[in-house]
Formats: sequence, structure tokens, C-alpha cells
Amino acid sequence: MGGRNRFYQQLLVGLCVLAVLAGCGSLKAEETKKSLRIGVSLYRGDDTFINNIRGEMENCAKEYEQKHGIKVTLDIQDAKGSQNTQNNQVERFISLGCDVMCINPVDRTAASAMIDKAMTAGIPVVFFNRQPVEEDMDRWDQLYYVGVVARESAILQGSIVVDQYRKDPASLDMNGDGVISYVMLEGESSHQDSLIRTEWSIQTLKDGGVPIEKITGGIANWERSQASALMEQWLEKYPDMIELVVCNNDDMALGAIDALERAGKKNIKLVGIDGTTPGIEAVNAGKMLGTVSADKGKYAEAIFSLAASKALGQPVLEELSLENGKYYWSPQEILTGQ
Ligand code: GAL
Repeated sequence: MGGRNRFYQQLLVGLCVLAVLAGCGSLKAEETKKSLRIGVSLYRGDDTFINNIRGEMENCAKEYEQKHGIKVTLDIQDAKGSQNTQNNQVERFISLGCDVMCINPVDRTAASAMIDKAMTAGIPVVFFNRQPVEEDMDRWDQLYYVGVVARESAILQGSIVVDQYRKDPASLDMNGDGVISYVMLEGESSHQDSLIRTEWSIQTLKDGGVPIEKITGGIANWERSQASALMEQWLEKYPDMIELVVCNNDDMALGAIDALERAGKKNIKLVGIDGTTPGIEAVNAGKMLGTVSADKGKYAEAIFSLAASKALGQPVLEELSLENGKYYWSPQEILTGQ
């Protein structure tokens, strides 16, 4: 009996010691966390929109350091369009002891291998801009996504043209045949935004009563130079027919403008999406009818705030109003020259 009592006494003492140690441990973690290390991997560092977001993230990190007195190391890497390179970057972030990773996946359908590594290491991940498939996102409760709603971008883009048509139909229907003849420049076919943007911007034109006819379209992978080359071909093949260029993003609209300027063509209307720095400049200069601008500040703030909370083991800010506890959708707005 006495032996059993001693056993319980020792067990109790042991448990108390453990509890105190555990308490000290977490207290220590909170007290001593004076620096955060965040690994960021970009699918391509030369993408204009991604570069805008990167700049905003760097601002967030600086502001955070000043406000909280916690040193933030943003280790930003460029995967240069290679999923292999990105997988290696993720391994490196883990071996360097990053507290959290922010990943802009090269191949959004191949996020699984990166998730495996993150889960094994217990490091939360904030994905952004290239949305992993739902099955992957549902694999762990420490996975988040920040982006814009593609359908909303497209509807806003379509409404820029609808408004212009209602205000001044002749500015679009330049040959006066009662139909707006358009060409379409599309982003990467594997990107969640491309198909949805293409479909819904055109649907919005139809719903808005704009009489349209598609001349042709092509994939320019978000890139200015590819878009410029396509537009040049179309201008040769369909002389004086194109009245409107609908572009899945600003960079492709800028590429089309390059081709139009080379051909000495004026007055053809173009619409983009993103509101990148050069995109907004083109709108202000009257070279682009309008764009749909994602709020880059809020977008980057959401990525950074999720990352910082996760790195400190704190709950995610309620004001982010995450959908299903893991998706943040950044607001966007129409920008036109008028
Ligand atoms: C899109 C954006 C494009 C390009 C792409 C990269 O959302 O509109 O300009 O940045 O993401 O994934």
C-alpha cells in the first residue's frame, strides 16, 4: 500500500515538474522570439505583378519591425519558372529554420511535394497568387492562400467596356458596322485565373448588351513580349478589323500596345487586369481604356500578417475574415482614365 502511495506521490511530483517545464518553455518561446525568418519563393521574379506584391511585402516587413521591435528576415528566392528549383528552395528554407514559408507555386497542381516537406518539418505555409488544388489545401490546417477572385476581376473588366459602349459606342465600333470585333490575349493555360477571366469578361460584355464578335485569340502566358508578337501577327492578318483587345493581365495589354505603336495604330481600345505600376501609367496616359487593380497593399499585408501570426504561434487576425479558415481574397477596383 505504502509502495503504491509513494508511486502516486512520485508520479504527481513528476507531472508537476513537467507542467512547470512546459509552461516555462512556451513562456520562453514567446519572450525570446525577437526575430522572424520568413522564406518566400516566387514562381518568377521577373513577373511584373508578382514584383509589385514583393515590394509591398518588403514594406510590410519594415513597418512590422518598427512597430513590434521584432527583426524580420524575408528570405526571397526566385524559382525562375522551375518547380524543381522551388522544391530545393523549400528544402533550404526548412534547413535554415524558417518559421513560416510564403510560396507562389510554379506549378499549382504540384504543391503536394512542398506540402509534404512543410508538414514533416511542422512549418506553416501561406501560398499566394497561384492557387493549389483544394485537395492539397485540405491536407493540413496550417496551409493558407491569398489571391483575388478571378470571376470578380473579369466581371469588373467587362464592365469597363460596357460602360464605355453605353457612353460612346462609336469609340469602340470604329467602322460603324454595329459589332465590336475583338481579340483576346490569355494567360498561362494551367493558371486558375486564365480560363475564368476569359469566360467572364466576355460574358459580362454579352450581359451588358455589347454586340461582340471574336476575331481570334491566343495564349501569351502573361508576358509582354509574347503578347506583342501575337498582336503584331494579328494586325497583319486582320488589317483594320480589330476594335478591342481584351487582355487577361496588364503586361499582355502593354505588349499589345507595343505592337500597336510599332504599327502606328491608334484608337484601338484595350483592357487589362492587375493595376501594375506600368499598367496604371498606361491607363493614365490614355493608352489603355482601363484595368482592374488588385489592392496590392492589402494583398501583401494579408500574406505578411498570416505569416507573422503563424511564425509567432499566435491566432490569425480575425479582421482577415478568412474563407473556410484558410482563404483570403484581396479587394480589387476598376481604374480608368476618366
Ligand atoms: C495573375 C496576374 C498575372 C501574373 C500571374 C502569375 O493573377 O494577373 O499578371 O502575375 O498571376 O501567376
